Amino acid sequence: MSAIKQEAARRRTFAIISHPDAGKTTLTEKLLLFGGAIQMAGSVKGRKAARHATSDWMALEKERGISVTSSVMQFPYGEHIVNLLDTPGHADFGEDTYRVLTAVDSALMVIDVAKGVEERTIKLMEVCRLRDTPIMSFINKLDREGKNPIELLDEIESVLKIQCAPVTWPIGMGKRLRGVVHLLSGEVHLYEAGKNHTRQDSTIYPSINDPRVEAAIGADMLAELRDELELVEGASHPFDQDAYLRGEQAPVFFGSAVNNFGVQPLLDFFVQHAPQPQPRETTSREVEPTEDKLTGFVFKIQANMDPQHRDRVAFMRICSGKFSAGMKAFQPRTGKDLKLANALTFMASDREIAEHAYPGDVIGIHNHGTISIGDTFTEGENIAFTGIPNFAPELFRRARLRDPLKLKQLQKGLAQLSEEGATQFFRPLMSNDLILGAVGVLQFDVVAYRLKDEYGVDASFEQVQVATARWIKCDDAKKLEDFREKNAANLALDAAGQLVYLAPTRVNLQLAQERAPGVEFLATREHA
Ligand code: G4P
Repeated sequence: MSAIKQEAARRRTFAIISHPDAGKTTLTEKLLLFGGAIQMAGSVKGRKAARHATSDWMALEKERGISVTSSVMQFPYGEHIVNLLDTPGHADFGEDTYRVLTAVDSALMVIDVAKGVEERTIKLMEVCRLRDTPIMSFINKLDREGKNPIELLDEIESVLKIQCAPVTWPIGMGKRLRGVVHLLSGEVHLYEAGKNHTRQDSTIYPSINDPRVEAAIGADMLAELRDELELVEGASHPFDQDAYLRGEQAPVFFGSAVNNFGVQPLLDFFVQHAPQPQPRETTSREVEPTEDKLTGFVFKIQANMDPQHRDRVAFMRICSGKFSAGMKAFQPRTGKDLKLANALTFMASDREIAEHAYPGDVIGIHNHGTISIGDTFTEGENIAFTGIPNFAPELFRRARLRDPLKLKQLQKGLAQLSEEGATQFFRPLMSNDLILGAVGVLQFDVVAYRLKDEYGVDASFEQVQVATARWIKCDDAKKLEDFREKNAANLALDAAGQLVYLAPTRVNLQLAQERAPGVEFLATREHA
């Protein structure tokens, strides 16, 4: 087997998604603990704090108690290399989350046992469904009273429209929590409060028929458990690897992240069954991970991770081949070669210089604005990965400067922030306005904060009569010119120079569409 094939086969690249407070951060921390990436519990919170310290604008994130940025963590687990991509938790950052989900091969959904399926869980599920991303589910906080597990699975099946296949099953809950049964191996994992439940120091019995199980949980509870397992067997679906990989069935685990309970069975199952790096579509062909030549795409850009360096880091998911430090890569969008010097990997909790990286891995490339979200990199081939869209914003504001002499900085700041995906930025053809578009209202606060903090620009945003935006596409040059002339008052250019129709009302949009047959009004624009 070639080295690339071997390395790809042991990679697992995934994201944890959840409604805020379900326990994503806590579970992340426990997973990293198994990977030996961090020593102490609490380190992820520490890492969060350290991130705040390194970038001042994140003070906003801290004030609001939300996570605006996403990051990448890599850790070894047994024979495997796990890449965990963090997704921003707040509802306003759906776009950013979407882009992270384009870079993973599977997702892990955390659900609070007491709250069940929450609003954000539903949205994230919709996003996963766009690409049929395989999903596992971890039902968390079993140490607290929650919903009846069978009803909870029903809820997931009916609300999220995905089949559930329980892999572990709880023995009691809240104060009565005694453990979980592994439905595939039959093993019983006992829960002991206050213990850090790694396999080494857990009490595990081979089956519920082991007399020690009865001794531990009592005859009544065991009888109750037997009844329940019979019911579960009759009512639920057995695990089906293919259905899982098609995104139609979610294996479900129960546990308590904060007690590190039920996490190891999840991780063991995950590395065994979750998909390795998958083939990816481009404009002209499908790229196999095992191909010799390096390809990858940029799904995220983050500014000022280190205040000492005012450059930006582009996060690239490797889709095929092998990355070696210092190599050159071709950027089809610009037609230029770029030296991938000082690339970052995300092994353990530190950013460090990468020597090599393989399909499924993410590397961080320093740049000064030469890389945009959606950019493809290759070893010379002229292709572009597809499926990383810009969404039409639904909220618009006009930027107003307190100090008119700062116009240049404002333009520069907005251009860079839009390149990062922090906001979208439009310049109307007929005026000097600078119009910002966002998918969530909080984005404007973040932009105002960052403009001030990073570019020294004091700007405010005011209401503007724009209801929605559509990217204009028309292959007929004459028709396009005609359309441009007639609609100049409503047309603008986005940060990439693409023509956009800014509709003052929905009705106006509809009329404009009816009056311009042959012109396409697109609600998303593919990057690149
Ligand atoms: P998030 O990233 O999904 O937003 O959730 P996070 O891990 O921050 O967890 C949210 C809260 O739920 C935290 O409490 C955390 O300690 C708690 N939690 C996580 N897992 C469990 C669990 O298995 N059982 C119980 N009972 N609680 C759990 P907090 O009060 O917000 O923070 P902290 O003061 O405990 O750190």
